[in-house]
Amino acid sequence: MSYQPEVTIVGGGMITHDQILPSLFQMQRNGVIGEITVTALRPQILWELRRAEIWARAFPGQHFRAVPEAAETGEADPELYKRVIAGMKPRQIVAVAVPDQLHYEVVMCALRHDQHVLVVKPLVLEHSQAVEIEREAKARGLVVGIEYHKRFDDRSLMARRRYQAGLFGEFMLGTACLLEKWYYRHSNFQNWCTTENSDAFTYVGCHYVDLVHFITGLLPVRVSVYGIIDQYPNGNEGFLWTDARVIWSNGACLNVQNALGFPDEAPGTNTQSLTMYCRGNNVGAWLEHSDQYRGLRYCYTRKGHEPGATIFAEPSPDYFQYVDVGGPGLQPVGYGYRSIEFIVKKAIEVEMAEPARRQEVLEAIDKAGVMATPANSAYNELVVEAGRMSVLNGGREAVIEYGERPGVRLR
Ligand SMILES: NC(=O)c1ccc[n+]([C@@H]2O[C@H](COP(=O)([O-])OP(=O)(O)OC[C@H]3O[C@@H](n4cnc5c(N)ncnc54)[C@H](O)[C@@H]3O)[C@@H](O)[C@H]2O)c1
Repeated sequence: MSYQPEVTIVGGGMITHDQILPSLFQMQRNGVIGEITVTALRPQILWELRRAEIWARAFPGQHFRAVPEAAETGEADPELYKRVIAGMKPRQIVAVAVPDQLHYEVVMCALRHDQHVLVVKPLVLEHSQAVEIEREAKARGLVVGIEYHKRFDDRSLMARRRYQAGLFGEFMLGTACLLEKWYYRHSNFQNWCTTENSDAFTYVGCHYVDLVHFITGLLPVRVSVYGIIDQYPNGNEGFLWTDARVIWSNGACLNVQNALGFPDEAPGTNTQSLTMYCRGNNVGAWLEHSDQYRGLRYCYTRKGHEPGATIFAEPSPDYFQYVDVGGPGLQPVGYGYRSIEFIVKKAIEVEMAEPARRQEVLEAIDKAGVMATPANSAYNELVVEAGRMSVLNGGREAVIEYGERPGVRLR
């Protein structure tokens, strides 16, 4: 049996342009997937996406189907994605790339129409929603892969293997940061990443919380987030600077700083890193990842056109790059590509299994813990819930309770 799933991307914003669509184009070129559809709120978004210069250079002759038809003007239709998903053949793939607070309804809509799901992080903003998603997917034998792409950075996989082998002992104290550039404030973020929906920790801090669990297997048990409210250019307000403290099941402590505030003129597309101090038997251990400066320093003759471009640059060869290996077009490389490919291939693996064996394959995916799923990473939703509770209460600590009925409460 051959199976080349069609893929519908819901959302045509930054992450679709930078990572999801080019990764899927590459997989389409390799014959792994079939038609790609992109649906978004407004025709203009798809107009801009279609006009992006990179497609002609990287994927000559390849196209996506736009619904609604890409156009310079047009009304927003927040319900359209439902009709697009309803029109798909069953057991294809839906990639969810809409603002955080909309993930739940789009993921559930896809599952109810028997579609496998790839969803950008964070899966949802409430733990009970993650549980519902897990139940629905399991009942239908479908994959839900949460796209925590840092897991597919080889350095994360190296650290995980070495930690599991006992080379780092036990995690005690750590610091992580991820500060996006200032210009993000001018993007569509100002319309949704506002105090009532999200904050810098929820938006990007979750990557490092997830990574510390991925490496150590520890669970987060207490969270406090101090947030500073700042204004977007359109006057909306967001917690654009956050400092979080996450306490883990063994008493370890991780400090995470996040912001939409790294200078546009600084090299690199952002700044990000992870440091972990650990203890062994009468000896200390230490791990440090510079996730922004990866050893490359370029000084160009002129500035590029893209937002945040600088003359002096520290490009990351590891997340997502286009390389020329003789064509056709350019080839996407990096953990951003590998992460999308991994999730799509897991959906295909489940689909190719005998129906009677599908649950077994899904359980093996959950158990391996490489791809984040609702079953193996719902601690992320508890952290998001606790973080939101804390930041909205001036940084008071929120406690995560596991067991029969997991939940969060202020301490
Ligand atoms: N590092 C990462 O993992 C990473 C990076 C960027 C974004 N993200 C996540 O990706 C998601 C989207 O972020 P983005 O940067 O692309 O945001 P964006 O604001 O650039 O794009 C959001 C898109 O969602 C679409 N949308 C909104 N409501 C819709 C609806 N009802 N129907 C159809 N489409 C709708 C909009 O049209 C827009 O195209 C967020 O959840 C964000 O947290 C993850």
